[in-house]
This record gives sequence, structure tokens and C-alpha cells, in this order.
Amino acid sequence: TRTLKWKGKKVLISAGPTREPIDAVRYFSNYSSGKMGYELAKAAVREGAEVHLVTGPTTLEDPDNVKTYQVTTAEEMFNKISELYPAMDIVIKSAAVADYRPVVQTDRKMKKQDGNLFIELERTKDILKYLGEQKGHQYLVGFAAETDHVKAYGKEKLYKKNLDAIIINDVSNKEIGFQSDFNEVIFLTKDGVEQTISKSKKEVIAKQLITFIENEIRKD
Ligand code: PMT
Repeated sequence: TRTLKWKGKKVLISAGPTREPIDAVRYFSNYSSGKMGYELAKAAVREGAEVHLVTGPTTLEDPDNVKTYQVTTAEEMFNKISELYPAMDIVIKSAAVADYRPVVQTDRKMKKQDGNLFIELERTKDILKYLGEQKGHQYLVGFAAETDHVKAYGKEKLYKKNLDAIIINDVSNKEIGFQSDFNEVIFLTKDGVEQTISKSKKEVIAKQLITFIENEIRKD
């Protein structure tokens, strides 16, 4: 029998996109499918962890033996995650949270008008930054979705958001990242550990990442 490395550990994973309503029938969002986060949740369960998955809208089935919380907006995701955070041991933030939301959200469907339409956007809360500021005993892992200067920008987020590690992926490559069953990532820790996982199924990447995180936690 396999030893369950994360038995007794509480793991929080975020996944999927957020949707920021414009009016009754329209929203602002991104292409995240949730696959990367759901695979991480499954991989953590395999190691015996108690897994809490906070997810934006996806078409995926709730994974077995995972406490799944469905949210829609960045604000709802912030509320659920900040409520769960104090009790968690390991947090992995793979959600693609919208950075902006419409300032005005109307309950009715907007009427067409002549000329161009301008929608004013305001910043949403940076959930990961908040978690970094509130960090106690948790091992905090962020994601960085970059299209250029991939490693440098990813590294910047690691320090700026007070993370223990960051998982960087290049989302300019259509064969990996958003929506694909595949990804290719760099795992970087604040202590300078660097591991690259070349193009593989997200399921394989997730298992590998859990092993890397496990190795780091064991050092602490
Ligand atoms: O869902 P899939 O289709 O499987 O695709 C996977 C993925 C490409 C979405 C995933 O691998 C990934 O890169 N997730 C992070 C996407 C993202 O929003 O990256 P970012 O570089 O914009 O944000 C950096 C980090 O801050 C992320 O951990 C993000 O969750 C967090 N963040 C961002 C904005 C915000 N308001 N709050 C946050 O917590």
C-alpha cells in the first residue's frame, strides 16, 4: 500500500475563471476551463489530503472526495477563500481571477444605442496578494499566466505577493495553458528551487507539482 503523504493536511485549491457581470445577459471573463485546478485537487486527494476546491464556472464534474464550492465573481471567490484560509495548510491558486470588473452592473439588459459603447472597469481585489499579506503557517503557491518575459514576470509575482512558490506557464502557446489538456510549467520557490516540467497532460503535471510542494514542505 502507498503511504498517504498529505493525510491530515488541509489543502485549498482555486480553479476556473471568474465572471464579472456587465448587465443581465453579458459578462467579462477569460478562457480558463478549470482543468488545471481540478487536476491539482484530484492529485492532492490521492495523497490523502482534505481538499477544498473553490471554483468559478466550468463544465467539469465535481471531483470525488473534494469539498467543492461554486462561485461566480472575483468578489465571491475572495469571500469564500478568505473564510477558508485560516484553517488551511497548503493553498494553490490556479484560478484565473478577472483583474477588472464593470463599475456599473445593470440588472436589465442594456439597450443598443448609436455609436460606440464605453464600459468603465475597476480593479477587483487581488486575492493572492491578500493571502500573502495574511500568511501564517500556510504554504502558499500562486500561478503566473504570462505571454512574454515569462520567467521574469513570474518571479516578480513570487516576491511581490509574498508566496512560497509560483507555477509559471506561458499562455501565448495555444497548445498548452488555457483550455488545453496539456501544460508546461516552471515551478519556482522563494528559496531558489527551480523545476521545469515539459509539455505533459495536466493530470501528470498536477501529480508532479504536488510532489514538488511535498518536498518543499518537508524541508521547513
Ligand atoms: O483552467 P485551465 O483552462 O486549465 O487553464 C489553466 C490556467 C492557464 C488558467 C492556469 O494554469 C493559470 O495560469 N492560472 C493563473 C491564471 C492567472 O490569473 O494568472 P495571473 O498571472 O493573472 O495571476 C497571478 C496569480 O494571482 C494567480 O495565482 C491568480 O489566481 C491570482 N490572482 C489574480 C488576480 C486577482 N484579482 N486575484 C488573484 O488571486
